[in-house]
Amino acid sequence: MIRFLFLFFAFIISSCTYHELSPCETNAPAFTDCVKPIFEQSCIGCHFTDNSYGIMPLTNYQEIKDKVINSTVIESLERAEGFMPKSGERLSAEHILIIKNWKENGAPNN
Ligand code: HEC
Repeated sequence: MIRFLFLFFAFIISSCTYHELSPCETNAPAFTDCVKPIFEQSCIGCHFTDNSYGIMPLTNYQEIKDKVINSTVIESLERAEGFMPKSGERLSAEHILIIKNWKENGAPNN
């Protein structure tokens, strides 16, 4: 019985501390679940279709892919001054890494 209780508590403790990586934190983040939500949250407020700023839209796979593949987006997130989102808070290191990993994998439409 004691042995059973020990195993039981060992299981409870290990299940609390075990941190499963979210699919976006791996080196194969998906466009729909990981990359697109970052743009929706941080960029589309200004970079929407036919915006009055006259800037490129970043609303769908094709638009986002083109600007990520040619590195404009990543450069804009990482530069020291005048980074994007304009006048906003810099994206977290995790979010920047998600975009970089997605690019590394050839920016799949998944
Ligand atoms: C508050 C509005 C706003 C938000 C939010 C915003 N942008 Fe911009 N973005 C602009 C404007 C305006 C320009 C035109 C250049 C300028 O004024 O700096 C621009 C230009 C750009 C450019 C091309 C010129 C440059 O500076 O590199 C890129 C790339 C870019 N944005 C990416 C992004 C990304 C990626 C996000 C989300 C993380 C984002 N922007 C969020 C307003 C915004």
